[in-house]
Amino acid sequence: MNNVYIETYGCQMNVADTEIVLGILKKQGFDVTDKPENADVILLNTCSIRDNAEQRIYGRIGNLKTLKFNKPGLVLGILGCMAERLRKDLVEDKKAVDLVVGPDEYRRLPEYIDVALNGDKGIGVKLSRTETYDDIEPHREDGLSAWISVMRGCDKFCTFCVVPFTRGRERSRSLQSVITELENLSVRGFKDVTLLGQNVNSYLDETSAVGGDFADLLSAAAKVDRTLRIRFSTSHPQDISDKLLYTIAEHPNLCNYIHLPVQSGSNRILELMNRTYTVEHYLNLIEKAKKIIPGVSFSTDIISGFPTETWEDHLATLEVMKQVRYDGAYMFKYSPREGTKAFRMEDDVPENVKSKRLQEIIDLQQTISFEKNQAMIGKEEIILVEGFSKKSNEFIAGRTDTNKVVIVPITSAIKTGDYIKVKINKATSGTLFGDYLENINDEKEGIALTA
Ligand code: 5AD
Ligand code: SF4
Repeated sequence: MNNVYIETYGCQMNVADTEIVLGILKKQGFDVTDKPENADVILLNTCSIRDNAEQRIYGRIGNLKTLKFNKPGLVLGILGCMAERLRKDLVEDKKAVDLVVGPDEYRRLPEYIDVALNGDKGIGVKLSRTETYDDIEPHREDGLSAWISVMRGCDKFCTFCVVPFTRGRERSRSLQSVITELENLSVRGFKDVTLLGQNVNSYLDETSAVGGDFADLLSAAAKVDRTLRIRFSTSHPQDISDKLLYTIAEHPNLCNYIHLPVQSGSNRILELMNRTYTVEHYLNLIEKAKKIIPGVSFSTDIISGFPTETWEDHLATLEVMKQVRYDGAYMFKYSPREGTKAFRMEDDVPENVKSKRLQEIIDLQQTISFEKNQAMIGKEEIILVEGFSKKSNEFIAGRTDTNKVVIVPITSAIKTGDYIKVKINKATSGTLFGDYLENINDEKEGIALTA
């Protein structure tokens, strides 16, 4: 029996993929260990989105390689987004790893591992137009929160982004298979499930008799279990339909929270990024969503220092942030990626300017988050109790449907997995604090998951 150890880097898609990989390997009789020293096979599920992600993984490979001194037969393997790009570098030039398997070849991972265990290099980096792992049952520990990947790949080709090259073309799972997976999670007591895709709004089930677009999928998902919160990520601003917004508004257990990457507030930069929308379109969409879904909140992704970005472009980004007032933002310095269109543009914003602009973006978001959280003091919220707070066993931590963490003093009435109503009494930019009001577990049907 072989022991496999796996580490996951990067986005939630990778976390979901690791569960698929473990599902495949466990079925083939592999055991999972959480200690690299005990493993016969060590796998790193990697991320290529920015250079620093890749550098971190190179460092980790160097680190883990030393385990081979004591265990010469040990297989060290790379999965995920670095596989396709760096196969030559990793296997041939640096001879650092024994196995390189890309995101569309996990079904054959046991074969490739066999090859590597027998002393050859196991290499599978082909991308597929059809692979969705529809029929694979991901391996998940019991818990409250889970991810389901509903589509793979991306056809958007934003000029900065390596994903269309590392993960290939867009393809969707069947609606029925997603619903079946959700039903299983509901039976196991999961309470918070995120439907994942690089661009979920392009979801389209063309295969099964049921069929449907992303709004149809969300609507079906909401009906599986009214006490199960459904989230989704990521949405492209070009593709959000009115039908989707009305669907979110219709079902209380579809969270009123949309991750809507804006990337930049300058139309000139958006065009260079091939984002295919203007700031005006984006802001209109936000306004429309706010009207259709009362209380909706937004998070975003922002890149600072894209090629040719001027001070005025940067100010325009700050302006969009002020207008939307995001609940949260993931903020990055532009990192040139080989193979992308932007790679051929000159990376002409100096590092110190990128850093300065990024810091201003982060500071502004911090202020907005703080003000928005302060404004919640005195309000009632319904949170899903996730367990003890990180800092103390005398407090529990829970999450609102808009994904905010609330810390509440523990009482005997509360247990993990409960929905409770709380009153917010204090707030920082990252955390809310509240008092317990009541448990709302008894309502079975159509539970109102927002206060
Ligand atoms: N440089 C910096 N940030 C990037 N992202 C994607 N590619 C790059 C890059 N080359 C960011 C985008 C995207 C998020 C997942 O990562 O903001 O929405
Ligand atoms: Fe990358 Fe753009 Fe696709 Fe997102 S939508 S994965 S940023 S190409």
